[in-house]
Amino acid sequence: MGEYQIRRCEREDILAVININADTLPEHYSDYFYYEILAEFPETFLVAELGGVLVGYVMCRIEYGFSHLKRLGLARKGHVVSVAVTQQHRGKGIGTLLMQTTQDAMAAKDATESYLEVRVTNSEAIALYQRLGYKVSSRLEAYYKDGEAALVMAAPLGQ
Ligand code: ACO
Ligand code: ZN
Repeated sequence: MGEYQIRRCEREDILAVININADTLPEHYSDYFYYEILAEFPETFLVAELGGVLVGYVMCRIEYGFSHLKRLGLARKGHVVSVAVTQQHRGKGIGTLLMQTTQDAMAAKDATESYLEVRVTNSEAIALYQRLGYKVSSRLEAYYKDGEAALVMAAPLGQ
């Protein structure tokens, strides 16, 4: 089976990342969007590689705005835009390690919290986020194109 490795995404990896996204999630983005996020936030765009093949990615943005954790406070926030692991490599801890590694990178960029949106029916992802300390901060009705609602989940970074 071999060991997988978490490392920064490179421009050469983007087509593989786009393919993983297309196979695993209904939310797709333009190619430009991936290159743009990589150019702006290279520290928090990571891939998981196994035997020279990409099996997962996490793509994030660092933003400044209203905190999801402090009432009425502003915060530097790491936004997990998209995370996915290919079907046959799930349940091995890759998603958890991608999230933990990008959270460390967010904290190193002075973000004090991390947040994301997730479909209310995506129980596997929600359970993973909860184990990492994320809590539901709000619910966005009809957030997705098909009408499904999203949970906004957030967790503090560092201590
Ligand atoms: N498949 C999935 N999970 C399994 C399996 C299996 N065959 N077998 C066991 N599990 C358990 C694992 O043991 C683990 O639980 P544990 O930590 O208590 O042991 C949990 O399910 C999965 O944890 P990981 O292995 O760390 O996560 P994984 O590498 O499977 O990735 C992810 C999780 C990214 C949510 C994956 O399921 C996925 O890609 N799903 C489709 C895309 C998706 O929904 N992404 C999130 C959308 S929201 C957003 O992007 C912000
Ligand atoms: Zn988002």
